[in-house]
Amino acid sequence: MKKTILTGLRPTGNLHLGHYFGAGKTWRTIQDDYDFYLEIADVQALTDNFDNPEKVRKNVYEITKDLLSIGINPEKVHFFIQSRISEIAELTIFYSNLVTVSRLQRNPTVKTEIAQKKELFGNDGESITYGFLGYPVSQAADITCFDGEVVPVGEDQVPLLEQCREIVRKFNSIYGETLVEPQQLLSTTPRIKGLDGNEKMGKSLGNAIYLVDDEKTIEKKVMAAVTDPNKIRKDDKANPDVCMVYYYHKLVNKEENKKKICEECKNGERGCVACKRELIEAMNNFLNPIREKRKFYEEHPEEVDKILDKGTKDAKKKAIETMKRVKKAIKIDYE
Ligand code: TRP
Repeated sequence: MKKTILTGLRPTGNLHLGHYFGAGKTWRTIQDDYDFYLEIADVQALTDNFDNPEKVRKNVYEITKDLLSIGINPEKVHFFIQSRISEIAELTIFYSNLVTVSRLQRNPTVKTEIAQKKELFGNDGESITYGFLGYPVSQAADITCFDGEVVPVGEDQVPLLEQCREIVRKFNSIYGETLVEPQQLLSTTPRIKGLDGNEKMGKSLGNAIYLVDDEKTIEKKVMAAVTDPNKIRKDDKANPDVCMVYYYHKLVNKEENKKKICEECKNGERGCVACKRELIEAMNNFLNPIREKRKFYEEHPEEVDKILDKGTKDAKKKAIETMKRVKKAIKIDYE
């Protein structure tokens, strides 16, 4: 029997290379080894985008196409939409009794996010919504609804999984062994830096390469990437370790080219413009098979709908089973 894995993403924008190297690539590798539930977390996306439902709606499909284009196989993975599994919302309500408000306020992930969203939640989070503060509870429902045994996570998600495990332990200790306590599968890839060297990557920072970027966009972004500031002339010796162009060569270029690029850069035998040109080519070679796959789904939106319908049906079946067990445990099994 394969173990069950559950992971999710918020449909708030297209996937960039950070998502690919930090998560998507791993999911593709492990999809054969697990019974894999992949949640498009539209309800969670609404917690900080409640005023922009069009954005969430559009990105449910964008993200699904991104995932399919990198080779997440819908024959192996249950793609499903969170809002279509009402059991998750029900579980969230029951779990809410098992979490204190102060514990949520102390959750490091939530704390960081509140600080980042001053416009929405005020300077000290004084306008925080009940829904956003409680999203870790909803995320615990996402996981346990499918008896998720393994959850692949990045560093930033670790406190959310810890919170989930606490809820599970509390539930089981009060109502009897009912829920499965998930284990984390921590991503080993360090966070990918932006083209400007920033630790954080994103649309607003303009420093990320998206899987959907076309050749023109790639050219523009790579030409603007940050190189060794001490290299002034084409034949100056430079330090590739502080150069974002070399950093991205390492991610997408062929093994045999990387050494050469590094040596030539150190010896002053390689100008930055030529090096960027080479990166543009390598980046397009890397993205071309992804673009090719995406094109199919762009031209066949009905296939995307079918994949989401099928995955959601699978998820619903599992959710109903879990809900029965939970209601019995809480003694609200009136049917
Ligand atoms: N919070 C996750 C993120 O922002 C998305 C997510 C929703 C998730 N539900 C999940 C991740 C369940 C793991 C398990 O990326």
